[in-house]
Amino acid sequence: MSVHIGAQPGDIAERVLLPGDPMRAKWIAETFLTDPVCYTQVRGMLGFTGTWQGVRVSVQGSGMGMPSASIYTHELINEYGATSLIRIGSCGALAEELQLGDVIAAIGSATDSNMNRVRFDGLVDYAPVADFGLLRTAADVAERRGVALRVGPILAADAFYTDRPDLYDSLADYGVLAVEMESAAIYTIAARYRAKALTILTVSDHIKRGEKMDSAQREQGFSDMVRIGLDTAIA
Ligand code: ADE
Repeated sequence: MSVHIGAQPGDIAERVLLPGDPMRAKWIAETFLTDPVCYTQVRGMLGFTGTWQGVRVSVQGSGMGMPSASIYTHELINEYGATSLIRIGSCGALAEELQLGDVIAAIGSATDSNMNRVRFDGLVDYAPVADFGLLRTAADVAERRGVALRVGPILAADAFYTDRPDLYDSLADYGVLAVEMESAAIYTIAARYRAKALTILTVSDHIKRGEKMDSAQREQGFSDMVRIGLDTAIA
């Protein structure tokens, strides 16, 4: 086992979906995968392996925020041989035209996290980006499934609660679609170790309008996103 994942070598598939919430990992495994097996419960951060359309896929909770997501991404790639990681999660919309339930694929991820500033000694503002092949596949899969996938840049923020909503307005002016809290770290670490990564998100709240999904909306919206993620992972 690795430091934070209680699995044996071979327990985890090369293709991994990464929801932040461990209970969502459980829900995805039990709702969508065939013969799911739980391979880790360390710190309550559940991970499962099963099959989707006959192909082995794992679903691993990544926790909230970039320090936590970094740990799981690092160990999945370096200790378990994951080659393809697809974050699936929720986000707060910044773009006016987005509606609750809309599905977004993050082509790139601006961030206020200090992690990459430390990584590059403050000398370069590294641009964390999605794997082009995964992104293109997700766009094709969404079209086939009749889901309008919005592709664009997002913000990966360290803080869920902000004192600077004006920064969100500025980012929206520059075409940033939404805010979440993990993508920049997952993209950066995947790039560092030559794995592929993509982030697919469902709009669960609208920052400007103060709207929030109810639980029925969440389930339907998240199901579309999970199917796109799974189809993309096995393509
Ligand atoms: N995930 C879902 N909604 C969010 C928000 N408003 N801010 C950051 N992450 C989120």
